[in-house]
Amino acid sequence: MIPQTAEKLDHVEQYYFSTKLAELTERHKKGQPVINLAIGNPGSPPKHETLEHLSKKVLEQEMHGYQSYKGTEEFREAWATWYQRHFGVNIDSSSEILPTMGSREAIMLITMVFVNKEDKVLIPDPGYPIYQSATRINDAQPVTYNLLPENNWLPDIEELEQLADDTTKLMWINYPHMPTGAKASKEIMRELSDFAHRKNILLVNDNPYSLIRNEHPQSLFTEGNTAEHLVELNSLSKSHNMAGWRVAGITADKGVINNILKIKTQFNTGIFLPLQKAAASAINDDEEWIHSLNDEYRKKERLGQQLLEALGCQFRLNQSGMFLWAKIPNEFSSSERFVEYLLNVKDIFIAPGFIFGENGEGYIRLSLSNKEKDLRKALFKINVSLQKIEF
Ligand SMILES: Cc1ncc(COP(=O)(O)O)c(C=O)c1O
Repeated sequence: MIPQTAEKLDHVEQYYFSTKLAELTERHKKGQPVINLAIGNPGSPPKHETLEHLSKKVLEQEMHGYQSYKGTEEFREAWATWYQRHFGVNIDSSSEILPTMGSREAIMLITMVFVNKEDKVLIPDPGYPIYQSATRINDAQPVTYNLLPENNWLPDIEELEQLADDTTKLMWINYPHMPTGAKASKEIMRELSDFAHRKNILLVNDNPYSLIRNEHPQSLFTEGNTAEHLVELNSLSKSHNMAGWRVAGITADKGVINNILKIKTQFNTGIFLPLQKAAASAINDDEEWIHSLNDEYRKKERLGQQLLEALGCQFRLNQSGMFLWAKIPNEFSSSERFVEYLLNVKDIFIAPGFIFGENGEGYIRLSLSNKEKDLRKALFKINVSLQKIEF
């Protein structure tokens, strides 16, 4: 018999996609392949020169030992230069950057470091489900704040004022926002920063979509420097097609980084050296790369919009990030029903909005990270069978 698990597991369910993907694999085995347009997993490789760099380094003898917890100087310097170039923020590369194995690791570390049992954590609804599970795993209380279409999916400061009290320690924001594709202006970032400062809350902007379909990348560090109550996460998973590499970074004040290090050093060491080296080379002078990546996303965006129109969904133009967020047709009573209908009748899988929170109900999230041909195939399927769709 398996010994009794910790009580915290009672509040955490397996991630929706991990169970759903198992179902898709079963369908595939039975000869019923599904076009998966749900997951944000870049379907193309990183830049060729980056891969060459990686493979050269892997063959060198001295590349395979444990690495420093803080990452190499080379990587941290490349990160600081990258931040200055894209966001106009000055970072001290020796003390204000901590490389992590993806932003997910960073989310868990920050939660462990800053919340005590039963402390409150402000979480966006809709939002990335991991903020909620990281909070629960640490026995803290998630308190959701509303993001609503009538407020352009931005937080309402008055609501935040009411929700926050002395036990509120942490607040997550994520602009450009997943799943809605909304952007936050510098003014909004400032307002949120002022709110967090007033309430003595650590405000974290999870920013992995900063460079995708977003002409004006925005950092939470609006004053151009780090601040003690602000943290920003960035990741190369999406912007450099490196989701499997697990390379991300926490940018924060030195004191915050030192506290996170206390926990990080218990878990693991630094990222595999060839990965750090190749990642550093990828973010040096990446304007051309980002430009061509966005050209591809814009092409797929047009296909995705056509697909949504063919499905009878409504959506806003000018969304950022790697997804399209759209309202389901009125004929369907829930996002799950619509998604199950598309899966069972059309063999197309799109993420239902409810998995991102109550305010995500009535919406779907279409990923643009797949290959263009998958979107074309889905569009073809829907167009061909349009007359047969029974809403
Ligand atoms: C909002 C958000 N944050 C973080 C992540 C995870 O990024 P990483 O691959 O760096 O762990 C994702 C990935 O889906 C995401 O959508």
